[in-house]
Amino acid sequence: MRVDFNVPLEGSRIVDDTRIREALPTIRALVDQGARVILMTHLGRPDGTVDEGFRTAPLAARLAELLGRPVRHLDDSVGPPVEQAISQMRDGDVVMLENVRFHPGETRNDPEFAKQLASLGDVFVNDAFGTAHRAHASTVGVAAYLPAVAGLLMEREISTLGRILTDPPHPLVAILGGSKISTKIGVIRNLLPRVDHLCIGGAMACTFFKADGLEVGRSLVEDDHLGTAKELTALAASLRHPIHLPLDAVVAAGAKPGVATRVVNVRAIPADQRVLDIGPMTVERFLMIADGAGAVVWNGPLGVYEVPPFDQGTASLARGLAGTAAQTIVGGGDLVAALQELGLAGHMSFVSTGGGATLEFLEGKTLPGLAALRDKTG
Ligand code: ADP
Ligand code: 3PG
Ligand code: MG
Repeated sequence: MRVDFNVPLEGSRIVDDTRIREALPTIRALVDQGARVILMTHLGRPDGTVDEGFRTAPLAARLAELLGRPVRHLDDSVGPPVEQAISQMRDGDVVMLENVRFHPGETRNDPEFAKQLASLGDVFVNDAFGTAHRAHASTVGVAAYLPAVAGLLMEREISTLGRILTDPPHPLVAILGGSKISTKIGVIRNLLPRVDHLCIGGAMACTFFKADGLEVGRSLVEDDHLGTAKELTALAASLRHPIHLPLDAVVAAGAKPGVATRVVNVRAIPADQRVLDIGPMTVERFLMIADGAGAVVWNGPLGVYEVPPFDQGTASLARGLAGTAAQTIVGGGDLVAALQELGLAGHMSFVSTGGGATLEFLEGKTLPGLAALRDKTG
């Protein structure tokens, strides 16, 4: 079973175990049926060599706590000692292999490495939605050698996010934030024809402002994407699905704790200041738009959430959304981290475990990890 236990770590301490918790239903379902469960995951980007800081032992330990049963950690992911340990497993046992990215064959999707991994089991269960955008040996390669199926988390992600693309409840509202328009062009293009409203915050909004001739001071702007902003605005107008930009902004000299902040109208951004968050009028406006929506899909924080108080726009919007009847679907590594830190993730209807994978899925791209399963069943 491939899981995505690529969790944030501080030393060997797991900062957020959401990805481990979300895989529990599939692991439990397999254990309950007497399967011998061999878990494989990557952790970090160790680049094909053993990196002590990225061993999966802390993940196995945390899983054992959550599962309430032992999880044996193995020191490698392939080879005779691993085969030996697996041959001793009993029905219902769970083992966790060492980080698959300690082998260079993983990210290269080397058929030999994939074959070695596949030889350890009888069936391939892929529950790693967060890594479904990577064509690696443990996500795609192994599917060539074994019967391959999706796990329950994979299924939940695809059905929830897939519905937004294929059969969304209306009105559908998208809220996009984050730093760069360039990383979200595909999502904007794919969502625009489907949404009734698109709200844009974060630094991205500043690129739209500048393209529109407004002063943006020292805000983060992608000067090489002013044309993109104009193009997307024109596309939205032609579809009659308006893009809603912020009305007001929190500005400061820089994103430093304790810095003096001001709320200004977006038409009066001082030349020596930076836009670091959306203002309270914008939060109200976005919430008015979301009020009565069937679903709200939100990706990307609306301000520099890493430095309070610039997390407040994101926090206020999340609190407001929690009070609406709309289904609230959030995704994106930074937005989910922000909501976890603020203690607000639990108030959303669905929190995607994907970062890049969620973005690519919403862009309408075919994720290789999913395609490998579809090839087997279709
Ligand atoms: P996600 O991972 O949720 O998709 P992104 O990676 O696109 O989000 O963007 C997250 C980053 O955007 C954060 O580091 C945050 O500080 C930054 N950001 C948001 N608003 C602003 C802003 N006004 N100015 C500078 N950076 C911003
Ligand atoms: C993620 O955290 O987005 C996934 O685990 C993929 O990790 P990667 O970007 O290192 O491939
Ligand atoms: Mg990010």
